[in-house]
Amino acid sequence: MCGIIGYTGGKAAAKIIYEGLKRLEYRGYDSAGISVLCDSEIRTVKRLGRVSALGGFLGKMHGSTGIGHTRWATHGKPSDENAHPHNSGMFSIVHNGIIENYSQLKSEYLLGESFLSDTDSEVIVKLLNKFYDGDLPSSLARVCGLLRGSYALAVICAQFDGIAVAKRGSPVIIGYGENENFVASDLPALAGMCKNVAVLNDGDIALLTADGVAIFDENLQGVIREILPNPAKPADLELSGCPHYMLKEIREVPAAIERTCQAYAYVENSVKKALAGVDRVIITGCGTAYNSGLAAKRYIESFARIPAEAEIAGEFRYKNPVVTSRTAVIAVSQSGETADTVEAAELALSLGAKVIAVTNSPYSRLTRCADVVVPVEAGCEICVAATKSYSGQITALYMIARTLAGFSAQSSADRIAPFPALCAQTAEREDIDGLADMCARSYGTYFLGRDTDYAVAQEGSLKLKEVSYVPSEGYPAGELKHGTLALIDIRTVSVFIITRPDLAEKCSNAVEQVLSRKGKAAVITNVTEVAERFKDRAYVIEIPPCDEWLSPLVSSEVLQLLAYKTALLLDRDPDKPRNLAKSVTVE
Ligand code: M6R
Repeated sequence: MCGIIGYTGGKAAAKIIYEGLKRLEYRGYDSAGISVLCDSEIRTVKRLGRVSALGGFLGKMHGSTGIGHTRWATHGKPSDENAHPHNSGMFSIVHNGIIENYSQLKSEYLLGESFLSDTDSEVIVKLLNKFYDGDLPSSLARVCGLLRGSYALAVICAQFDGIAVAKRGSPVIIGYGENENFVASDLPALAGMCKNVAVLNDGDIALLTADGVAIFDENLQGVIREILPNPAKPADLELSGCPHYMLKEIREVPAAIERTCQAYAYVENSVKKALAGVDRVIITGCGTAYNSGLAAKRYIESFARIPAEAEIAGEFRYKNPVVTSRTAVIAVSQSGETADTVEAAELALSLGAKVIAVTNSPYSRLTRCADVVVPVEAGCEICVAATKSYSGQITALYMIARTLAGFSAQSSADRIAPFPALCAQTAEREDIDGLADMCARSYGTYFLGRDTDYAVAQEGSLKLKEVSYVPSEGYPAGELKHGTLALIDIRTVSVFIITRPDLAEKCSNAVEQVLSRKGKAAVITNVTEVAERFKDRAYVIEIPPCDEWLSPLVSSEVLQLLAYKTALLLDRDPDKPRNLAKSVTVE
């Protein structure tokens, strides 16, 4: 949610920043901008639209220190004026986060100032210009002390050949190079640019020059933050011959499952320890991560017979949850930076729960607060729509549920073993196009299933609406007759997921109810009788027979491809759906 990057060293800063911004574009893509320091003067270019809109200006932006930003609008519509950087006097800043008290700050300290944008961020640079006393870290600390909300800030000043950085709530990584240093919101931006990184703590202020990095805590005492290897590789950012990251990442589902399964062996004992004596489990997350929690609830209750709930993180944190020291909270997040999920995890910790983080981001905020981290080894996920990370989450959550039920990681791995191959075959299916065509023409598409198939239905629906903008809902199949049936007519498509033989008959009744109302129906199933029954009346996609608990790995991949293909038919960009950003670090 907004990407920031900064460079100081001996090379042309604008080009490096431009490259970094392109890599960070998944964090926001409504406008972008760059400021560079050239002969003690700041030059800024910013434009509405994608980062590529800046490409033509790079030749004129000389200087070896600079900052850049790609925006996901919160305050103020997408426009040239609201794009970052924002400047005042000798300062230029980029900001990721939300300043909640910006109007109060304006009236308290900045009366009479004229503002060029409608953003909350411009207040920060005006305050810095007002309070600057010749010492950048202390002036920045003073301004930060006035801010309420979240921020990752990178600042350049005409009097200083370097970058000042401040952080609270929003993510910031410092990258260490040779005679050059970097700051960025996220690791992929720095892939191939520097080998080592450090993660700042909330309240930290950092000063970067070509020669070094100094970090201070909120009391301006010098501190050392651990220097860690940068795991992001340039290859992670390549499309590898695919037209879109979404397709590339769907093709990486098998590797995500395999690596997540292998990595679990290293944390099995810590998970066992954290779950000892637990009498209730809450799985929390947002969007896709919440949807994987819906499957996990079923796993935990079925395997371990322990009550489990899936809770949307933004609800959990505001509902005064019932949590005791015998509750385990599993916080699921691809990015590990989603504000609601991290806050939910922190709340659970403060109430005495054990918190297990399930995340694809090794240095994220979530990993730093949890008792135990279960890695999702999906690799960098660039497409805004989560695909391989969902499959990795399902794998990790399945293994956690089986640990709780007393099974060894090896026995779980044995069950998962056939799935990378099954998912590799699924990625190559060509029989989804017809259904994509039906969805693209539909007035609304509904996804229905029972139990784990219901969990997959929710995820299939989110994926379709997110990348194709076709209105879509997911329902438990049994709920159809309690209201949803009123929506069904010849213009709608209902997609049923039926992989549980014991529930096949009941779900088939729901398919009949749709067909009787002239609704179009599709059935994704590995139950032979179901495929036979509907082969002439519905669009049937048969998936291979497999372990019923793990069938979500295959059926969800079919739905990921369905969403991707539908988006292409409607001429949408599946990698960058409108209005969205990959990592939602604000509330
Ligand atoms: O990084 P997180 O897993 O915490 O992100 C949560 C949601 O924002 C995310 O899953 C979102 O719903 C995806 N765009 C869905 O494809």
